[in-house]
Amino acid sequence: MRRLPPLTLLIAAVFAFHALALQIPFLGNRLDSLEAHTRTAAAFKLRHVFHHGIGTNATLHRRLDVPESHAFETGTSEFYLSSVSKNVTRLSQRDPDFMESYLAYTRRPNAIKITDFDWIHEDVCTPNISDPETLGTLARMTADAYVSVPASNDWVDVGEPYNETLGFGWDDKGVRGHVFADDENKTVVVAIKGTSSTLFDSDGDTVANDKINDNLLFSCCCARISYIWTTVCDCYQKSYTCSQTCLEDALYAEDKYYRGLLDIYRNTTSLYPTATIWLTGHSLGGSMAALLGRTYGVPTVAFEAPPERLAAQRLHLPFPPVPANESTIWHYGNTADPIFMGICNGPSSACWVGGYAMETQCHSGLECIYDTVKDKKWHVSVSSHRIKAVIDMIAAYNSTPPCVERSDCQDCFDWEFV
Ligand SMILES: *[C@@H]1O[C@H](CO)[C@@H](O)[C@H](O)[C@H]1NC(C)=O
Ligand SMILES: *[C@@H]1O[C@H](CO)[C@@H](O)[C@H](O)[C@H]1NC(C)=O
Ligand SMILES: *[C@@H]1O[C@H](CO)[C@@H](O)[C@H](O)[C@H]1NC(C)=O
Ligand SMILES: *[C@@H]1O[C@H](CO)[C@@H](O)[C@H](O)[C@H]1NC(C)=O
Ligand SMILES: *[C@@H]1O[C@H](CO)[C@@H](O)[C@H](O)[C@H]1NC(C)=O
Ligand SMILES: *[C@@H]1O[C@H](CO)[C@@H](O)[C@H](O)[C@H]1NC(C)=O
Ligand SMILES: *[C@@H]1O[C@H](CO)[C@@H](O)[C@H](O)[C@H]1NC(C)=O
Repeated sequence: MRRLPPLTLLIAAVFAFHALALQIPFLGNRLDSLEAHTRTAAAFKLRHVFHHGIGTNATLHRRLDVPESHAFETGTSEFYLSSVSKNVTRLSQRDPDFMESYLAYTRRPNAIKITDFDWIHEDVCTPNISDPETLGTLARMTADAYVSVPASNDWVDVGEPYNETLGFGWDDKGVRGHVFADDENKTVVVAIKGTSSTLFDSDGDTVANDKINDNLLFSCCCARISYIWTTVCDCYQKSYTCSQTCLEDALYAEDKYYRGLLDIYRNTTSLYPTATIWLTGHSLGGSMAALLGRTYGVPTVAFEAPPERLAAQRLHLPFPPVPANESTIWHYGNTADPIFMGICNGPSSACWVGGYAMETQCHSGLECIYDTVKDKKWHVSVSSHRIKAVIDMIAAYNSTPPCVERSDCQDCFDWEFV
């Protein structure tokens, strides 16, 4: 169980002052002056937590309904987010049954490409990413996804019949979705978390043996980066040659994160069938949010995510035929974070030392980069990757950075995929 330190809280609180002021009674007299600002912002509350097992526990899939009274350790129970309408291009057919059968089908040889399907342009309510306060609030929502909810035995089973003898607990490995909704259930924000990102975000509480998904998602060929590394799939053929179909099947395997995400999305949309969904997440959770957001054409704000474009291509996710600057996958990160920048590799890096093969360099969608090295004199270090650092960073800038496509980016160019 992790707590945000008081200093961070203070900074986050000052930064989120307008939002907090509405909840703290003795600040109520400030309401009038704040009204103009918050008029376009809706208040979100945590409603449910989904936990989906991975590995041998892949059939465990449960939901915890969060009591109305629940307040986070950050002292906040409501999150204010402002929105803007945006012209978004996405598949006309996007329901889970269609997408999942498409994803299963597309990995077959000679499958027709998704570009042959129907795209539509529609106005979609998206987070106002120009607003530092909204961005900071999304970062705090992802931070809260790291924090435990009160001990509870009220998990309900969804999906596969639950095998009691397997046991189930908060700390079990898996992928988690924290589901926040506004008062009217119009917009639902799902903050995605994967446990293995704790290597980079905890205070020493490392999940040492849960690297399989990271090494599958962000390495060129099953983490076969030297002969001494344990590989996470058997796709390596010979020197710098890797089997493409083998990689695609490995990423889509039922016991891996991506399939767990699909289940969480399916269950969230069945609870909130008419809501607009937004996704967010930090680190591995950010990459997973981006993969899920691309699958369903859903606006996604990721923080310090390791580059996931290669995984999106290997999963055959839809890339809409529009200029990249119209993407609604926003990757926020900073220049002092080697994991986000795709440079946490090579024998002397913290990732290599930790057994993480973080070889990819390209994000899908847009990159929105805070130049903390230049502006704030931060040193390049994995500590700049932490969500706490991100919350402080957003608060320290008056505006949000521009979002651009890195068009010159290429992953794993020295490998041949056959
Ligand atoms: C939305 O974007 C698409 C492609 O970028 C364009 O063809 C379409 O005209 C736009 N629609 C509106 C209403 O702006
Ligand atoms: C989005 O945020 C910016 C910066 O705070 C603000 O100027 C703008 O009015 C917001 N847009 C909407 C539609 O609320
Ligand atoms: C939740 O997802 C699982 C796996 O996709 C599915 O079997 C189950 O029917 C879903 N439950 C609800 C309530 O949507
Ligand atoms: C439940 O899990 C236990 C332990 O893995 C296994 O021995 C048992 O056969 C399982 N029961 C069912 C009904 O799947
Ligand atoms: C599966 O769940 C059991 C019981 O909660 C736990 O002890 C075990 O570590 C889990 N296995 C994996 C691979 O997560
Ligand atoms: C919002 O959805 C929840 C289900 O999670 C339901 O209990 C609640 O009544 C809904 N509220 C509105 C205003 O529709
Ligand atoms: C994308 O870039 C084109 C020119 O390259 C510009 O006309 C268009 O307005 C941009 N769209 C967005 C959403 O920024």
